[in-house]
Amino acid sequence: MANVSLTPDFLEELRAKNDIVDVASKYLTLNRRGGNFWACCPFHNEKTPSFSIKQDGQFFKCFGCGESGNVINFIMKMENVDFMTAVEILCKNCGMQMPSHADSEEMQKRKHERDRVYQILRHTTEFYHQNLLKNPDSLQAKYLRSRQISDEMIDKFQIGASLNYDDLVKYLHHLGFTYDEMVMAGVVGKNEHGSYDFYGGRLLFPIMNGFGDVVAYSGRSVDDNPTHAKYKNTPQTVVFNKSEILFAYNFVRDLKKEHMLDTIIIVEGHIDVIACHQIGISNTIGCMGTALTPLHAKKIKQLVDNVILCLDGDNAGTMATYKAIDTLKQVGLNIKVVRLNRAKDPDEYIKKYGKEAFLEELYSGQDCVDFVLKDSATKYDLTSNNERTKYIQEALNYISKFSLPAEQEIYLSEVQKLVRVPIDALRKSLHSTEVSVVRPTQEMPASDDIRDNFIRESKIMLLSSMLYKKIKNFDEISGLFVSDDELSKLYEFLKQKIEDNKDYNVSTLFDNFEIKANSLIDRVINYVFPGDEVFSSYLHDTIQRVKIYELECERDKVKNQMLNSETDDEKYFYLNKLKDITDKINKEKK
Ligand code: CTP
Ligand code: MN
Repeated sequence: MANVSLTPDFLEELRAKNDIVDVASKYLTLNRRGGNFWACCPFHNEKTPSFSIKQDGQFFKCFGCGESGNVINFIMKMENVDFMTAVEILCKNCGMQMPSHADSEEMQKRKHERDRVYQILRHTTEFYHQNLLKNPDSLQAKYLRSRQISDEMIDKFQIGASLNYDDLVKYLHHLGFTYDEMVMAGVVGKNEHGSYDFYGGRLLFPIMNGFGDVVAYSGRSVDDNPTHAKYKNTPQTVVFNKSEILFAYNFVRDLKKEHMLDTIIIVEGHIDVIACHQIGISNTIGCMGTALTPLHAKKIKQLVDNVILCLDGDNAGTMATYKAIDTLKQVGLNIKVVRLNRAKDPDEYIKKYGKEAFLEELYSGQDCVDFVLKDSATKYDLTSNNERTKYIQEALNYISKFSLPAEQEIYLSEVQKLVRVPIDALRKSLHSTEVSVVRPTQEMPASDDIRDNFIRESKIMLLSSMLYKKIKNFDEISGLFVSDDELSKLYEFLKQKIEDNKDYNVSTLFDNFEIKANSLIDRVINYVFPGDEVFSSYLHDTIQRVKIYELECERDKVKNQMLNSETDDEKYFYLNKLKDITDKINKEKK
């Protein structure tokens, strides 16, 4: 919900300056069809577009998953942020100022904390980077040269060096930061001797969020002290959540904004990412040696439909590939797998065989299911009947998870090639392993329900006419919505807007109502009108129908009251009332 301290006028201006089509096209490939723009929905998995944007109404609606909203809701979902952060992002996008009074005290305190942390990280990154540039003879600089990392990449990735344990602390202190703030930023540690540079003596790879702000570091050891871990990474901080950050994601996102991104390549190490970017394969990101989380997968899916997994060549890399396939499949990504046999990782491969050979490997990546079927076959001796049966069981188990018969067929024929068992036999075994899906039965609505639905649909039509056609005879329909809270609130809201003669559009509703998929308001917004030529007679009929319905309800109520009356006076009173209502009904029906 909107923060109360942001005025409607402010939000109106913000939305006017951030056209939803412009904003969304930075994330999605939009196609114009009819009056609307269409794309595959970024919020659920699909292959055919059911996500639509109405430019005149300035809102989106997915007919698949039901999500809808205005440009602010779009950013909230897309960037996984709260309302105020989404507003901030849009302010930045169009050069508007956030109103300074917007936050509560608690929020301001937290915002201040985060601001300080970001400032520290900016200064620290620059400090480390300058250390590296100014000390070409340092161990760190030598190490980078030995790995053939270019100056251009050192600049792009803002690589840096910590030369000792003290300088950074002194530098930040001199800039006015407290030791607590430094610790909070994750760049300084504390022990019994005091504060020290957390990455003392290491080579530093800054980790950036999607906007390119540094949020953490990986510090690589460059000395040969065996007690030093190979990498020291920033722990969780107020700006860094390991399970949603991917190395070089910001660069790949920039490519997306320039409409130059179709596939993302996922590698393990920092050096692998940098080596890929250095030879121009800049659609590469790094998972930094950890298992991909569902959040990672979601962020990747927001940018592309296709990924190539090119993890390290060792056994651990194979295991990680299996896991990554599972996670990435959950969000509906198309996954190709490249296993490097001739080198331990992409960096080594590129150094040994060159860019062209590496590209060749990427192009010839295999479909992830093929990979799983073939790789798991290597665990078995397929010449032995016993082992072959075990493999078939494992493979069919895997295939049975696919819901499309066509997909199952494709993979069955892959297994068939490996095991040389007639495909019919495989098909039969597959269907016997499948669990039948129990579908919930839909209850037939009683006839009263049908009538209620019909009337509700009519009310939706009336409100939609107020919203889109700005009909002025709303007085005629006042009182028709009282039986429904949600609709009557909407009626009051629209009436106010029309009376104030304010220019407003649909996107305004999303600031004022919580609009769930298929809720009544959602249906008002997405109501499809009959053609213009019949609209006014349709409107007239609808008003009449709802009026009669409401009167009939009233009549039934009064009838009951009459039957339950205890005195003749009372009975007489209700009888009169009943006559009144019946007259009204007859008048309407004429
Ligand atoms: N990693 C880590 N901590 C470690 C080891 C590895 O965080 N102790 C992460 C790093 O993000 C690293 C990635 O896992 O980049 C891959 O590990 P590894 O292959 O060992 O390091 P690389 O950076 O790829 O360096 P190398 O060239 O030696 O392979
Ligand atoms: Mn590596």
